[in-house]
Amino acid sequence: MTIQKFDFTPLLARDLPPAAAKWTGLAKFSFVGGNNDPACVPVEDLAAAMTSVLEREGKSLATYNLAHGPQGYLPLREFLARKLARDAGISCAADEIMVTSGSLQGLDLVNGALLSKGDTAIIEQECYQGSIARLQRLGVNVVGIPLDRDGMRMDALSAALDGLKARGVRPKYIYTIPTVQNPTGTVMPEERRLELLSLAERHGVPIFEDDCYADLTWSGKRPRAIYALSRTKNVVHIGSFSKSVAPALRVGYIAGDWSILSRILPLKTDGGSGALEQMVLAEYCGEYFERHVPKLRRVLREKLETLMEALSENFGTAAEFDDPPGGIFLWVKLPEQVDAMKLFQAAQKAGISVNPGPEWSVNKPDNASRLRLCFASPTKDEIREGVAKLAGICHAEFGVPARIANVKRA
Ligand SMILES: Cc1ncc(COP(=O)(O)O)c(C=O)c1O
Repeated sequence: MTIQKFDFTPLLARDLPPAAAKWTGLAKFSFVGGNNDPACVPVEDLAAAMTSVLEREGKSLATYNLAHGPQGYLPLREFLARKLARDAGISCAADEIMVTSGSLQGLDLVNGALLSKGDTAIIEQECYQGSIARLQRLGVNVVGIPLDRDGMRMDALSAALDGLKARGVRPKYIYTIPTVQNPTGTVMPEERRLELLSLAERHGVPIFEDDCYADLTWSGKRPRAIYALSRTKNVVHIGSFSKSVAPALRVGYIAGDWSILSRILPLKTDGGSGALEQMVLAEYCGEYFERHVPKLRRVLREKLETLMEALSENFGTAAEFDDPPGGIFLWVKLPEQVDAMKLFQAAQKAGISVNPGPEWSVNKPDNASRLRLCFASPTKDEIREGVAKLAGICHAEFGVPARIANVKRA
């Protein structure tokens, strides 16, 4: 007798995302996602930190949140308060910080506290796909503001806010990635941050600041966080250890005034983020974070050089890009006849994964020939070989670059 498999389909909740495909592994040449440099993960120091913190405090794992409360492990929040003060000019106490399972959970929690279906949110036109997808799934009206080399354009923001006001719409927040924007890599100067704050205050709209790449500027310097510059406490700030230490740890944080943090906190009903990761990070970061990050930045900068050289050698002038001031991505523009979605599919079949530009924007037509390339996770050899192969595929599909292999920049 054959047993028929149970069919869940008629019982599924409404509006579920499409079914997942089974994991088939990373592509041989992977330029996607926010993955980091494997050689830069400080394995030995993390292992030592793990041993020492477990020997000292391991028994506290018997209690949810290690008895440090739902905001997370206190020594980690104290480290963050010191770090945010030193690097970003933020003055906040450990109890104005909550630890999250990656900053993605931070996005979900802030969205949960502020957004309902039909609300309006303002974001940068080119923006992190994870943020765009969340807003779309929540049924929120998204208004995209164009960027220039200094980030979100204030003339366009001002016009959008005026237009919304004329229609009686008060946006729920202005979401920005001001320090090494994803995907464009721009850093918003302090003057513009002040302008943004004054516009937001004038319109009674809070700012949602996503600062997860802020440790990765090549100069090691960054403008003060918008959160630090706000006098009215109208900013919610999120950050992460994903880009500075390792993404698989899944540790991020939200910093905000208690008036909003106290509304976000009841939405975190998961019994606390992974305690072991928090303990290890606190133990490790206190001693090593400041030494680790400059090393990581140097490696990332070198890999970016390799990627820019490989693109110039293989695509010639067909690949246009600005040399970003930090981060892990290069935002590349190819000639108009290149359809990035098609290139992405053809490349995928050949074992090369790239992020097609339209997925990183709410203005898809203007980004139809763009690619976002992550240079942090592939090795330098993989970068060179992967880009050469990508140029071959792009040439075969679209005649771009016009000639391959011997194309050199003048
Ligand atoms: C702008 C931005 N925000 C948030 C995240 C999520 O990072 P995580 O959840 O690993 O902290 C990413 C990841 O790439 C990102 O680019």
